[in-house]
Amino acid sequence: MLTVSPVLSPELSAKSISNYQQLLEVNHFIYVETEEPNFDWIEFSKLVTGEELMLQYGQEIFHVLYQPEYMKLSDARGERRLLPHTEASDYQTPPKYLALWCKKPSACGGGMTTLAYVEGFLKTLTEEEKKKLMETRHHFGATRGIHANRTQGAIHPILSFEGNKPVFRFSCNYIKYGDYSPDPEDLKPYTPEPFLAEIADRFLEYYEEKHMAIRMEQYSCLLWDNKCMAHARTTYSDPTRELERIFLG
Ligand SMILES: [Fe+2]
Repeated sequence: MLTVSPVLSPELSAKSISNYQQLLEVNHFIYVETEEPNFDWIEFSKLVTGEELMLQYGQEIFHVLYQPEYMKLSDARGERRLLPHTEASDYQTPPKYLALWCKKPSACGGGMTTLAYVEGFLKTLTEEEKKKLMETRHHFGATRGIHANRTQGAIHPILSFEGNKPVFRFSCNYIKYGDYSPDPEDLKPYTPEPFLAEIADRFLEYYEEKHMAIRMEQYSCLLWDNKCMAHARTTYSDPTRELERIFLG
């Protein structure tokens, strides 16, 4: 597991934004710590990415906050571990970037956001496997669980490229269990597509070893490229932890 050093004291000057853009280009994510409760992290994220907000569940800001009915689920609003995924693979056009703002970190030390650039994993695949991921159009759209039919679903290849940059659309939970947010202790019978189930298991193994873990401090912002970075979250137990999330693209 790698840890991440934060960038401190962001400014919204043109020079500073250009520096953050370069960091994002090279590292595919930025983690910024501030001591400013009113830091305009949304404007910052828009300036750095050059993108506008996208709606998520019909709203611009999603509150990542524990809710008792989701507690046992592998979901943003539950306490259980989230398996690696790229966001909104069931959207026709998933967000290009995601950003999180930490209003209140967990007191328990858990709930770390983890990230991994997918290119290293792609290097572990054979040419034949990559070809299969690029040529097979796969249906994404939950038919079970709390996210059942949240969208009309989308059909797209799991892997494509924009120049040299990989575009990966994936969710270990969805591929393995057919459910974006299953209860890990009460998994319903599901028969995944064997090739993809094997890819998901190997990706999980890779992710376990290679991810970066970020314990977001209060008033920090984490911004990443949702096309080429997978993310996940460790388990936690503090119901007062609160983040805000935006989609850009
Ligand atoms: Fe997510």
